Amino acid sequence: MDIRKVVIPVAGWGTRSLPATKNIPKEMLPVFRKPVVQYVVEEAIGAGLNDVVLITNQNKTIIEDHFDHNLLLENLLERSGKTELLKEVRRVAEMVNIIAVRQKQQLGLGHAVLCAKEVCKDEPFAVMVGDDLMFGLGCGIEQLIEAAGAENMAVVGVIEVPEDKVSKYGIVQGEEFAPGMYRVRDLVEKPAVDKAPSRLAIVGRYVLLPEIFDHLERQEPGVGGEIQLTDALKGLASSNKLLAVKLRGQRFDAGDWVEYLTANIYFALQDEELRYDLVKRLRELVPC
Ligand code: UTP
Repeated sequence: MDIRKVVIPVAGWGTRSLPATKNIPKEMLPVFRKPVVQYVVEEAIGAGLNDVVLITNQNKTIIEDHFDHNLLLENLLERSGKTELLKEVRRVAEMVNIIAVRQKQQLGLGHAVLCAKEVCKDEPFAVMVGDDLMFGLGCGIEQLIEAAGAENMAVVGVIEVPEDKVSKYGIVQGEEFAPGMYRVRDLVEKPAVDKAPSRLAIVGRYVLLPEIFDHLERQEPGVGGEIQLTDALKGLASSNKLLAVKLRGQRFDAGDWVEYLTANIYFALQDEELRYDLVKRLRELVPC
């Protein structure tokens, strides 16, 4: 299966992260040295996806700008001999091709994906939610692309969540046919613990085939009055056309403060220069 495009929806309002996100997109909040969405884009590049379809809105042009040249800044860095920074700034500007599509009303994640229909046409494509961070070599969207290619089918990424978290996610009902790979029979959006068919929760990584657009076009609004991608995927599951793959590595939901702050610490701890001072400071704050 030849997958070249990745759809990254970034048009949501980010209300859970207010007031930080009043004028800054949630996807542009920094995690250690980079904005959230840059990690997502770098994961895509690692999986060979260089054409990024950003589903955006009129307040989010700053995201497109991040992946473009800033000539004034580049001139300044060049004149002041800051060659390493200049290289880094140029690397970000040139890392991917951006195709921006406006989602004119924020009608939900499913609707955001539907906005990519004219660009993706009849190609299979990846979807990576712009505020969901996955880390680990060969983890994340690369795993899904591999499974989709092997089985010629749409795939959702899942992680195992504790019981008290199942009601926050779309939960998969299915059979494991190989380690960490499931044939999906049904999906239940945000079930109560006693109604959840498993603890396998859908996170923001998908490989989809163009037939999803027909399902999305017919999809009525669901939870929260939004057009939910999970609801459209139920149609695929009921006709045995959907797989789930358990994602390896670390995952952080940048729209959740605990997760967002943990992601910052996780990255800072990997920086040789910072690690010692950071741990020392954290120990002062939280003596144990
Ligand atoms: P979320 O539900 O996490 O994002 O959607 P949100 O709606 O921005 O955030 P809260 O819940 O109000 O805090 C997951 C991703 O889908 C995008 C968001 O930008 C986010 O990256 N999204 C969501 C859209 O592009 N369009 C939408 O209509 C909804």
